[in-house]
Formats: sequence, structure tokens, C-alpha cells
Amino acid sequence: MIDQRPIDLADILAFHLEAGVDVAVDEAPMNRFAESAQEAARPRPQLPERTQAEPAQAVAPPRGPTPQRPAAAAPRAAPPASQVASSALITQAPDEAVMSARELARGAGSLAELRAIMEGFEGCALKRTASRLVFADGNPKARVMFVGEAPGRDEDQQGLPFVGRSGKLLDLMLAAIGLDRTSAYIANVIPWRPPGNRTPTPQETAVCLPFIARQIELANPDILVCLGGPSAQALLATTEGITKLRGRFMNYDTGSRSIRAIATFHPAYLLRTPIGKRLAWRDMLAVEAALRTERA
Ligand code: URA
Repeated sequence: MIDQRPIDLADILAFHLEAGVDVAVDEAPMNRFAESAQEAARPRPQLPERTQAEPAQAVAPPRGPTPQRPAAAAPRAAPPASQVASSALITQAPDEAVMSARELARGAGSLAELRAIMEGFEGCALKRTASRLVFADGNPKARVMFVGEAPGRDEDQQGLPFVGRSGKLLDLMLAAIGLDRTSAYIANVIPWRPPGNRTPTPQETAVCLPFIARQIELANPDILVCLGGPSAQALLATTEGITKLRGRFMNYDTGSRSIRAIATFHPAYLLRTPIGKRLAWRDMLAVEAALRTERA
């Protein structure tokens, strides 16, 4: 039998939480469908002058009445600055965004410069829904760098990687081999939180990859530790699963140097699957041993 109980606010909130909507990214709700319709109706930039060979239709204005603004996009109060900025975002085609990320990342001469470049980068749609850039934590001069997948809610709120539950476990893993955030550098492949912690798309990963690659090159650690399959797959350019990838050293080419890289289970996975801690412990011991031998 169908439950006739009227839906109350608590039910609606619970529904949103379950769907992964756990933060409000703006003061007022946004109608993204109306935004897309508005964008589609926006006049396109003028094409360059037509040559003789081009058919007239190619540059002729569209026939029929001017498209109406959709009702849902009716005038409203001036949007907050964050929305004005975000509506100007993502005008780049996917390949262009990747190329532009590569070029911008290459131009960064220091981690501070890279961070500033990423703050101003408009080619990744995740920036629209994230509260802020999550660049890095720890010591950029450390000999070991840990790279996770993408920030979660706590990281998005604090602007620092691995500060939530999995961050607490990462801290314990570091402590187990005598490290902490003064002797390790920590970042993510994706520096903006995907909405509702969804998995980043391959396109989002491709756009963010040049930035983390440059971040690794500039930090120049002796050992790189990929936390979880998505990080290992993106950085080590492989499709192998984490169970096979973990625990063995590989070479990671920074562009200026080859460094030793190892993958281990992501702390979030270990929270769900404590039996994996035995193998993660082994991986951490391998990192400790490598730190003793590499450029000590
Ligand atoms: N998971 C990640 O991969 N990165 C974080 O910063 C937090 C959780």
C-alpha cells in the first residue's frame, strides 16, 4: 500500500542527503535547466566574412521568430558574484580545456604560481559546484608526496585535502611510519570537489591531470604514493585495478626526472574494508624502506 503521509521538510532533506546533496553551494536554488536553455538561445559570435565558396545558409540568421526566453529564466534579483563568475565558466570545448590546462600548468614556475593559475582556471565544470580549490596540505619540500582522488565535503569546506574521516586514517598511516603533515606533502588528482562526491568523469580527470603532474614536478618528491585506484590509474597511465597495482614500485616520469611511485589502497576504502589494512600496512613499510634508501 502506498504511504499517504504528506512529505515534510525532513523527508526532503533526507532525500537530498541520500542523493549526495550535502552542501548548499549558493544562497538561493539555481535552475540549471533554465540556464542551459538560456545559453542555447544566446546569439553566437559572428562568423568571419563568408567566402564565395561558402553557401549563403552558413551565415544567414536563423529563420522564424526569435527564440523566446524560457519562462523559468524570467528576470530575478541580481545574482551573487559567485553566480556571475560561474555563468561565464566552461565556454571551452573539452579538448581545448585540456590543452589550455597543459599550457597553463607548464607556465607555472613555482607551486604558488601554479596555485594562482588553478584559482583562475575556468575550464573545469567542477569549479562551478565546489566551494573552493583544494590545492595541497603538508610540506611541499617533503621527500614523499601522497596523491588522492578528489576532495570530499570536509575538504571542500576547509580547502585542505584529507581532513575528513579518511584524512584521519591517512594521518594514522603516516604516523605508523614516522611521518606527519610536516614531513609529507598531500594533494589530489582533482582539486575541486565533485558534487555529491560522485566519481570524476574521464574528461574532468583529463583536464585536471596537467595541474597535478606539474604540482608533482614542482614539489619534486623522492617517492610518490598514489592513494587508491583512480589516482594510480590517472598518474601511472594504466587501467589496472588497485589490487594488482598496489605494493610495487614503478617509475613516474615528472618530465624532468624519474621518481619511484607506489600505489596503495585509499583510506576511504580501508574504512569500509578493514581487512585491506594488512596490505596497506605492507605498502607503508615499503614506502618507509624506500625513503631510507632513496637520496637519503
Ligand atoms: N578523498 C580523497 O581522495 N581526497 C581527499 O582529499 C579526501 C578524500
